[in-house]
Amino acid sequence: MVSLSTSVAGIKLSSCLYNGSGPKSGHVSDLTNVGRSRAGAVLSKSATLESQSGNALPRLRKVKLGDRGCQGSINSEGLPNQGIDYYISSKVCGDVAATGKPYIVSISGLKLADNLEMLSRIAAEHAAGSKISAVELNLACPNIPGKPTIAYDFEQMADILKQVTAHEAFKASGLPIGIKLAPYFDMPHYDIAADLINSHKDRIRFVVTMNTIGNALLVDGESEMALIKPKAGFGGLAGGFAKQIALANVRQLSQRLDSSISIVGVGGVQSGMDAFEMILCGAHAVQVATTHWLEGPECFNRITEELENIMKRKRYNSVEDFRGKLKEFDHTLYKDPEKANKPKPMPSTNSMLLAGILPALLFVGIAFLMSNKSAAVP
Ligand code: DHB
Repeated sequence: MVSLSTSVAGIKLSSCLYNGSGPKSGHVSDLTNVGRSRAGAVLSKSATLESQSGNALPRLRKVKLGDRGCQGSINSEGLPNQGIDYYISSKVCGDVAATGKPYIVSISGLKLADNLEMLSRIAAEHAAGSKISAVELNLACPNIPGKPTIAYDFEQMADILKQVTAHEAFKASGLPIGIKLAPYFDMPHYDIAADLINSHKDRIRFVVTMNTIGNALLVDGESEMALIKPKAGFGGLAGGFAKQIALANVRQLSQRLDSSISIVGVGGVQSGMDAFEMILCGAHAVQVATTHWLEGPECFNRITEELENIMKRKRYNSVEDFRGKLKEFDHTLYKDPEKANKPKPMPSTNSMLLAGILPALLFVGIAFLMSNKSAAVP
């Protein structure tokens, strides 16, 4: 029997697949829809202290590459959300709990004090009986005009981690906390981020990598316009375009983070094979964001089935059987699918010459020489 079950920060998930914090995670109906699908957990939209309506429209678009169909998305939503009190209310927590799935609350305060206040409120609601399993602290929203991405400012990140992990009431709640990072591209940045996180490994129990590739620009040449309104068109690039960068971030961090810290991969997962690759690079669980936005919660059923079929074909029974086991390239083991499916080409004139005519000429030449030689013998 194939099992997709996994564990993130000690929380058991029936499946390693669940939603990313983003579109279709802002209302209780979105969250219960995820919970009723085959997703293994439910994650809220990133909450701020107060509810807010977000940036001007349009602020979320599909991104296509040439005429090959949808490849991803760009967004600059500006954290539209119902405010923390909504996401931790007994109504929302109760409805999500009724689906039987662990509920993770994402927070993204506009300032450090907001994050600390949200942790106090989460601890209080948890003590009052609201069913919350963990907190994802978002350090990487690129879409707030005038605010830098915290995960790129290591001094600020160090200060936030220090204060968040020292929060007494939240510590007492026993709830695990994880952080969501921005994509990194440079080896020293992975080193610094991982060292920082490892220095809080007793409290930071999981890492979610990665947020969108910040401040991309979607342009429509026909109308000569940027296609989203906020921030002069600059927004976070996500979906298919992000996948290889997300795989790299999962891999690099899994090689640096303490083994007690769970890794959740997110970025460009559209299929069971995409999820398989994330796990191969070291992810304990995999979030799906753009595909969830485009396809709805049914995507969790489809991707689950696809991943199960891949695992059956490869004779893996559990996620741990292949997690983190990415191999280096080896010529002797690689079958190029493009070559395997190509019909054998017609032999070219040159190769026909080489393969057929030249050896024949050589043979005739040798025979001629031999016959001359024997004729010369008296
Ligand atoms: C938003 C975008 C993000 O990438 C994120 O992590 C949180 C919020 C947004 O624009 O709403």
